Amino acid sequence: MPPTGLASSVPNDLEAYWLPFTPNRAFKKAPRLLVAANDMHYTASDGRAVLDAAAGLWCCNAGHNRAPIVEAIRHSAGTLDYSPPFQFANPQAFELASRIAALAPGDLDHVFFCNSGSEAVDSALKIALAYHNIAGQGARTRLIGRERGYHGVGFGGISVGGIVNKRKMCGTLLAGVDHLPHTYSREHQAFTKGEPDWGAHLADDLERIVALHDASTIAAVIVEPMAGSTGVLPPPKDYLKKLRAICDKYGILLIFDEVITGFGRLGFAFAAERYGVVPDMITFAKGVTSGTVPMGGVIVRAGIYDAFMRGPEHVIELFHGYTYSAHPLACAAGLATLNLYREEKLFERAKALEPMFADAVMGLKSLPGVLDIRTLGIVAGIDLAPHPDGVGKRGTAAMEHAFHKEDLLVRTTGDTIALSPPLIVSEAQIGEIVEKVGRVIKAVS
Ligand SMILES: Cc1ncc(COP(=O)(O)O)c(C=O)c1O
Repeated sequence: MPPTGLASSVPNDLEAYWLPFTPNRAFKKAPRLLVAANDMHYTASDGRAVLDAAAGLWCCNAGHNRAPIVEAIRHSAGTLDYSPPFQFANPQAFELASRIAALAPGDLDHVFFCNSGSEAVDSALKIALAYHNIAGQGARTRLIGRERGYHGVGFGGISVGGIVNKRKMCGTLLAGVDHLPHTYSREHQAFTKGEPDWGAHLADDLERIVALHDASTIAAVIVEPMAGSTGVLPPPKDYLKKLRAICDKYGILLIFDEVITGFGRLGFAFAAERYGVVPDMITFAKGVTSGTVPMGGVIVRAGIYDAFMRGPEHVIELFHGYTYSAHPLACAAGLATLNLYREEKLFERAKALEPMFADAVMGLKSLPGVLDIRTLGIVAGIDLAPHPDGVGKRGTAAMEHAFHKEDLLVRTTGDTIALSPPLIVSEAQIGEIVEKVGRVIKAVS
């Protein structure tokens, strides 16, 4: 049910707030303000119920304002407002770490907490470098990312990331970074449901990079199992297995950035499980608290953690951490969220819904200007033909039209509409989302 009875609170001065990843002047002329949320809907400041086809920003996997999560946060705020994470801890941090490690495959047994996906990525890259250092392989300093990859906005993340607009204004970035090619080819993959057949060979490019730099200089490879923010690029069949094999061959750590794919988005706790590949580290954020309280983290294999635990016991093993690592409110929210995922079997639900979701979204393929559709788990990317006036114009028009005229919240990146509704979405609501998106596409074509 859409939320009801909320006073709209429209600020009278929009000047001071500098919005992130938003054209500020355009936004302030026609703001899109959200004042409440419940289950599958937001409430806009004019009182309209807006169907959420994006899980906020790929994060509210359990839906909005779910009572057990809200209660857990309330209780935590009234009990333990804050506890320092250096030299002290709150009990829920241990419980949450155990629960997350239990969800992760193989010997991914230890969890380092931070507050966002960007911090998770920078933490994982630092752990990789430090690990090689203490293992006596300090020359392994190179980091390998992938074109079109998104790993947040820290300097580490944008260095291994491969989206030009996020890199080009920030100088030389980290030194010693190389990139694998991205895995998308419209010619070979257009309108694929799930993992495309074409493209596994692109993992072999890692052999070229090793030949160029030598394995003894390479610390880690980081990839999103499914590239999300660039516009939804599912991995080609066997691609990730090949990457794992090449990393194993050369002693290179493999990091899966599961900030989007973690916590059920692809029908499993982690994409690593879907693909039968155990990376050395998994970064997560977003879905761990269903977006309610900022939290991120890195799940680390036992061998890496153990390597750090060999020095004198009174000495800090890793000089890294954040004031808000394992914040009590985030831990409480995380535990309540994981309980909800388990009780409502939301990961299994996503898996069961995948074929219906894919068929429904593919139904849009013959609409005007639709160049490609990709689906995976409860995610879809719909590429629209760019407007002659510039890349991104049609995508933005689609997002605006969806919000103002169709009461639908979608995410767009360039001219791609990305759909990733909360995992509580019903079949009827999937139908509603697709109908609305169909009308949006026609309106902006
Ligand atoms: C794969 C991936 N890594 C990292 C991030 C950055 O997360 P945050 O915005 O929480 O810093 C994102 C955000 O969308 C992401 O998709």
